[in-house]
Amino acid sequence: MISPPRIAVLASGRGSNLAALIGARERGELPVEFVLVASDKAGAGALRLAEAAGIPTLALSPKAYPDRRHYDLELFARVAASGADWLVLAGFMRVIDAEALRPWVGRVINIHPSLLPKYRGLHTHRRALEAGDAEHGASVHFVTAELDGGPVIAQARLAIEAGDDEQRLAERLLPLEHRLLPAVLGLLASGRLQWRDGTAHHAGQPLSAPLLLGDHGLE
Ligand code: GAR
Repeated sequence: MISPPRIAVLASGRGSNLAALIGARERGELPVEFVLVASDKAGAGALRLAEAAGIPTLALSPKAYPDRRHYDLELFARVAASGADWLVLAGFMRVIDAEALRPWVGRVINIHPSLLPKYRGLHTHRRALEAGDAEHGASVHFVTAELDGGPVIAQARLAIEAGDDEQRLAERLLPLEHRLLPAVLGLLASGRLQWRDGTAHHAGQPLSAPLLLGDHGLE
């Protein structure tokens, strides 16, 4: 039997996207093995979720390192030592050093709460509301050294409603994120999604536009 792809996850916070990944795996919908969940925050909920699921964890504080580069090199060395094939950023709230990332480019995906290329960085819900956008969403993209700038693989879209404030919009988007990230990781695990020559390929063809999360998964 071919062994399932090995996945490491980086998360800084509560870990609801990690929970969605673990849940998909437990339901038999995501044939992967989680080999490590690492965090820059020892108190991250994501670490507790991983422990409860029997996944090895690592809390690595940036405070023990002189700068971002040294921290990221150590973090990525630990990810490599886990034997991971791919790395998923699920609410990892740090910019990653280009040198540390280089050997991993094409093997790292990130979920970001906006319709990239709109609203890279922080406060995406607030910025979409302030701009008067009619819709908002989340993107999963390949990670490159450019912050939230790598090729977008798939998006979930959501109409902004009159009653939305920052918190309500974030709460309405989250369940879509929880479907989007496992769906993209599933594509990656199946080999149908690939990184080739700096672009995302799906079913052997370069993606001309992001895949869209519909009622029945990615389209
Ligand atoms: C998610 O909304 C994710 O899209 C966002 O952080 C949240 C993490 O929630 N990621 C970023 O903003 C990355 N720039 P979670 O810890 O419950 O998964």
